[in-house]
Amino acid sequence: MIELIKKLPKAELHLHIEGSLEPELMFRLAKKNNVEIPYKDIEDVRSAYNFTNLQTFLDIYYAGANVLLTKDDFYDLTWEYILRCVEDNVIHTEIFFDPQTHTERGVPFEAVITGIKKALADAKEKYGITSCIIMCFLRHLSQEEAFETLEQALDYKDDIIGVGLDSSELGNPPSKFKEVFQKAKEEGFKLVAHAGEEADFSYIYEALDLLNINRIDHGVQSIKSPELMQRLKDEQMPLTVCPNSNIELKVFETYKEHNIKELLDYGLNISVNSDDPAYFKGYVNQNFINLYENLPITEDDVITLVKNSFKSAFISDELKETYL
Ligand code: HPA
Ligand code: ZN
Repeated sequence: MIELIKKLPKAELHLHIEGSLEPELMFRLAKKNNVEIPYKDIEDVRSAYNFTNLQTFLDIYYAGANVLLTKDDFYDLTWEYILRCVEDNVIHTEIFFDPQTHTERGVPFEAVITGIKKALADAKEKYGITSCIIMCFLRHLSQEEAFETLEQALDYKDDIIGVGLDSSELGNPPSKFKEVFQKAKEEGFKLVAHAGEEADFSYIYEALDLLNINRIDHGVQSIKSPELMQRLKDEQMPLTVCPNSNIELKVFETYKEHNIKELLDYGLNISVNSDDPAYFKGYVNQNFINLYENLPITEDDVITLVKNSFKSAFISDELKETYL
């Protein structure tokens, strides 16, 4: 099984590029950019990665992102992730980035997007890896700030395939961003949103009915509503599930309690993704291996999960054909 997992060409649809910042690079950039980080050494960083919920993670994740300042920093960050894709045989990836985390600190939107873009172009040239970029609005900020971010993104419409919604879920429901998602849709962006990660399934209904999203990120709380499960199945709405993330953020107490096998067996369109791999103990293959070691996942399940990720990717039907 582990051989199959490693060998299968995969797509990743839920990956925050800031969440792929490994402690080694964090230290290198902190030193280069003269940014203070609250850690003595790599060991110290790793021991701080002990989360009790989404917010305790986000506090550390945003602090880590402070070391990213220049276009080259974003290039290096993205390139290191690409090397992990090569290792894990990820041949297509759709990367989230959080522009507001950087523009709030005075880093130009342009530095962020051009650094990421250049690394992805090199990934295509050197390894044949294809990719898309999705820009996320931080949901703990206002809709007005999301509108300002969307405005900045219009200059990079050819580089950004879609918009998403991430950060602190509880208390920041999709309905808060209804108008900005409407505008993004009119501008031709694909739409995704984190929903039903920690908050209940009503957030998933809002994401579907008010934001008109094309994919749900996480969505594991849908299991609490039989009616929603039936709808997600009928629509074959993609759910980009991130098992390691759910365990590290205590959405499920233990791996054995994760519901991915139930969601899959019910017939939902589920894929496996790494979310913030530098913080959640592993990249895509490690997520699959953990599933296999803790749940009754079969080889057919693994193949279905991988096919679903290609099926749900924001790529042309022609490219999909070549991958499926
Ligand atoms: N949830 C919400 N926001 C995030 C996450 C997540 O898992 N990772 C990075 N930003
Ligand atoms: Zn996420």
